[in-house]
Amino acid sequence: MCGIIGYAGNKNPMPILIGGLKRLEYRGYDSAGIAILNAKKFYVQKSVGKIEQLVKKISYRQNIEGGVGIGHTRWATHGKPTLTNAHPHNSCDNKIWVAHNGIIENYKDIKNQLIAKGHKFKSETDTEVIPHLIEEYSKKGFDFKKSVRLAMSDIKGTYALTIINSDEPDKLIAVKNSSPLLIGITKNGQYFAASDATALLTHTREIIYLNDKEMAVLNGTGYQIETISGQSINKKIEVLKEKEESIQKSGFPHFMLKEIFEEPEAVENAINGRLIYKEGTAKLGGIETIKNELSKINHLTITACGTAYLAGQIGEYLVEELSGVSSKVEYASEFRYKNPVIKNNSAILAVSQSGETADTLAALYEAERKNCLTLGIVNVVGSSIARQTHAGIYNHAGPEIGVASTKVFVSQLSVLILLALFLGRQRNLSLTEGKKIIMELSSLPKKMRQILKQAPLIKKMARKYSKFDNFLYLGRKYNMPIAYEGALKLKEISYVHAEGYGAGEMKHGPIAMINKNFPSVAIATTNSVYEKMESNIEEIKARNGRVLAIATKGNKKITKLADDVIYIPKTLEPLEPILTVLPLHLFAYYFGVLRGFDVDKPRNLAKSVTVE
Ligand code: M6R
Repeated sequence: MCGIIGYAGNKNPMPILIGGLKRLEYRGYDSAGIAILNAKKFYVQKSVGKIEQLVKKISYRQNIEGGVGIGHTRWATHGKPTLTNAHPHNSCDNKIWVAHNGIIENYKDIKNQLIAKGHKFKSETDTEVIPHLIEEYSKKGFDFKKSVRLAMSDIKGTYALTIINSDEPDKLIAVKNSSPLLIGITKNGQYFAASDATALLTHTREIIYLNDKEMAVLNGTGYQIETISGQSINKKIEVLKEKEESIQKSGFPHFMLKEIFEEPEAVENAINGRLIYKEGTAKLGGIETIKNELSKINHLTITACGTAYLAGQIGEYLVEELSGVSSKVEYASEFRYKNPVIKNNSAILAVSQSGETADTLAALYEAERKNCLTLGIVNVVGSSIARQTHAGIYNHAGPEIGVASTKVFVSQLSVLILLALFLGRQRNLSLTEGKKIIMELSSLPKKMRQILKQAPLIKKMARKYSKFDNFLYLGRKYNMPIAYEGALKLKEISYVHAEGYGAGEMKHGPIAMINKNFPSVAIATTNSVYEKMESNIEEIKARNGRVLAIATKGNKKITKLADDVIYIPKTLEPLEPILTVLPLHLFAYYFGVLRGFDVDKPRNLAKSVTVE
């Protein structure tokens, strides 16, 4: 959701900004733009649609020898995706250009005040007030940095900003509050600002994460970091470990397919080095320091959004079943606005791939305000949620570029199993049970690879069902959230209507929809609720509904009930979701591709939802 790249140095900023914007494409956007400042001259270009449109309008060979530049991919919030609304935005005197990710909540008031002072606005965006506000302070005689600071004290809201000003042409100022922003540095005078590290991997691995209300001043000779109130700070330089290949398609037609095929590896990376077989428990370095507090908790709230929320739903069952600690999953967008009851000896766990989801972050702030212990399961190292929590566990799944979350979902499930196991072994879970879970968890990647071998069959199924525009996904117990996830994935990338339902609820409404044109995908694995699922399938068949079933290998009976069956290997019931979701991810992928959509960048969606 909006991507920002900024550069200060002695190289031509144009290809650096365009390259960075391409790397940020996965975040989701509908227009893009750049502004470069060299020897007091601006080069500005914007376009609606893909970066290719922007590239067509500019020449890489334009001879710009160094300078400062800012680039932006915009995901429309205030105003349609038009050229006028595309960033960067400028001041009346054209000296100040700004790119922004976030929302300025009091922009209407500020805009009215500025209009009264004679400022002219062109766009419908909230962002445009920023360059005008900075201009207003510059006119009063404040230098660039001070003007930015004063402007920041006037605005309310969330922002990651990059700002350039022809009065001080060697400077790029980057400011952060709640929206993600980091700084990249090199030893040879190249400085960068970006929404995330993937944009910088080809240039540097040395990163400084900005905290809220911090700003960086970059130029070709160095950088300074200060708080918005002007206190200078010494920040730690972190070195990124991500491999360049992790952000390449490596021969796959789409990132989504590559990432589905990386699901077994994601499970391996989540569990490697974290299993202690002889003690039947998990070793989780990130929560080691708070293990005593964790041994005393009697409630765990899990909070997240989207697919991460669905992982959390499974987490709730896992924690209760394995540890006996009461648990509840809550949408972060609800948790942050209700008045959650936080009892003594409870903890909140935020689950997030990006670590930047605005609602999840806000839910954590709310919990912390009420003195609750905060934990995180996060994929992106150094992200806001990772830094906000008291302790946490990283997924180590590597960058996930496809907007639809796939490999990180199974990674989140793996970490939730480890956490539930850890809490269980602190309490009443037996050594034998613990060992059984460890053994089975270790065998999952192999079983997942067996499922992946069925990709051609699943593609065939997707083709067979691709003519339908409505789907019901059904599951029970651990597989109910998998029904939701299967449906979410299908609608996200294929734009067909798909509803996930707890199969036990089918008779309470959705059964009314069933007919021969409304197929159901039923997760009917051989487990404690299999017979119930079988009855649901019978009921659908009795109403001429078609059924595609996900069943456990060896269940021949189901072929007589369902129209089509995809088999998965047998595993322990609490671990099943890691296997049952895999065919559903593949089904959604092939379905979306068959319908001719760009599955890596579904319309209207953003990878990282940094505004609420
Ligand atoms: O980065 P997060 O895990 O916090 O993101 C949460 C959701 O926005 C995300 O899972 C979203 O639902 C995906 N598009 C699902 O595929």
